[in-house]
Amino acid sequence: MRFDVFTLFPEAFDWYLTQVHIRAAQALGHEFVLTNYRDHTPLSHLQVDDTPYGGGAGMVLRIDVVCAALEAAFGVDAERVKDTRRVVELTPKGRQLDDPLAGELAAGPDLVLLCGRYEGIDERVTHLVTDRVSIGPYVLSGGEIAAMATLDAVTRKLPGVISNPASVVSESHAAELEGGAEYPHYTRPAEFRGWEVPEVLRSGHHAEIERWRAEQVRKR
Ligand code: ADE
Repeated sequence: MRFDVFTLFPEAFDWYLTQVHIRAAQALGHEFVLTNYRDHTPLSHLQVDDTPYGGGAGMVLRIDVVCAALEAAFGVDAERVKDTRRVVELTPKGRQLDDPLAGELAAGPDLVLLCGRYEGIDERVTHLVTDRVSIGPYVLSGGEIAAMATLDAVTRKLPGVISNPASVVSESHAAELEGGAEYPHYTRPAEFRGWEVPEVLRSGHHAEIERWRAEQVRKR
């Protein structure tokens, strides 16, 4: 699968794209491509944004700039990109990212993430996208953190990226847990400052451990 991220701040992804599960995805043939809108702007002085019609604070990312970047990356009319790819605008106005949506995005086709900045992208971006996605009911300064959260949730679901697939299935919010949070995890030491790991987890009784974990999920 190919993942494209459009942003004014590609350097924001430098650390993220070196993470082990991204490397694992690349080793399986998945691609991660960053495009800086500014590299493709048709405007002079590398302009990418403008003041909002009707007045108001902030700057808005121009739709002609977004179209030019998409066309440079994919070699087709910007409106046609969504014919073969899922094109997502990251915006607080979007559908909230959750486990089922991450699974849907991981099922393909190739994914394009459009990051806004400032006051966001000109509303006419709706002509270019298949989806608008939010990572939560709050306003971030730009879409980059939201794009990383989306890439993270989606990449983990690609077959073979996480070496133990059971850990993906049993993760928080997976359907198997009926939308509930995952059970608690503990590791050594068994006791620290008087804080003890539940006895049942140290018992070696797998059936009891499973029962205890299911109970914890229900409680949460
Ligand atoms: N851009 C700004 N805030 C955002 C949010 N909550 N989710 C996705 N993109 C955003």
